[in-house]
Amino acid sequence: MNLIRRVRALYNLSDFLLQNVAYTVFFHPIRSFTSNSTCFRGMRRRDLRHAKILYRSMHRGKTLSASHSLLYWLLGRKLMIVAVVALDGVERVVGIDMFYANKRDVIERTIHEGYVCVSEDMAGKGIGTHMRELAIEHFRRNGLSGISSRISLNNLASLRVAEKSGFAPVEKYYDDEMREERYYLIRDFCSGKRYLT
Ligand SMILES: CC(C)(COP(=O)(O)OP(=O)(O)OC[C@H]1O[C@@H](n2cnc3c(N)ncnc32)[C@H](O)[C@@H]1OP(=O)(O)O)[C@@H](O)C(=O)NCCC(=O)NCCS
Repeated sequence: MNLIRRVRALYNLSDFLLQNVAYTVFFHPIRSFTSNSTCFRGMRRRDLRHAKILYRSMHRGKTLSASHSLLYWLLGRKLMIVAVVALDGVERVVGIDMFYANKRDVIERTIHEGYVCVSEDMAGKGIGTHMRELAIEHFRRNGLSGISSRISLNNLASLRVAEKSGFAPVEKYYDDEMREERYYLIRDFCSGKRYLT
């Protein structure tokens, strides 16, 4: 039984990684730019530990899964935006915006925003907005049609921030695992015609 579960987990991990590698194989790396002493760029392997620490501290102590850690170790320059500030030559990751492709994204030519956060002491300075703008420019440049996301209906703050970045709900569903209603949202790069009414 244990062996079957392990084989299935290994299969799912390989499937997830191969799907993302194949989907992004011709993607250019995320370009970088600096604004107000904060550098926005694709994640480098040396950033991963700090990105995971920020993720955990902002995500109610939840650790980034092994499959996602491996994904970003492999493809961080194409799939994760980091915001970095340097103090006395020491770099600190203060924001992350992480993406991956689900099967639905591959079919619809979108990319899924798994999680975006900015460290509490740097919030409200436009870092979240810059990371999303860079993400839109990056994925549009690589030929995608939009960014997908999932947000619970009761998470009003996230819905408001997503709405400000141009995301709109295209589907409402009940998540059995989370036991709550959620929206599937799209930030469409071309038009607003897919929006849920
Ligand atoms: C959401 C988050 C990434 C925004 O990053 P940020 O750098 O603080 O955001 P910005 O300074 O770029 O502000 C973006 C806009 O969202 C608004 N905003 C930010 N946080 C908000 C909140 N909690 N409720 C409502 N609006 C909010 C800002 O007022 C701003 O609006 P404006 O352009 O009209 O002034 C950050 O607050 C965060 O890490 N939150 C916790 C993690 C989270 O909830 N992630 C989203 C779920 S995946």
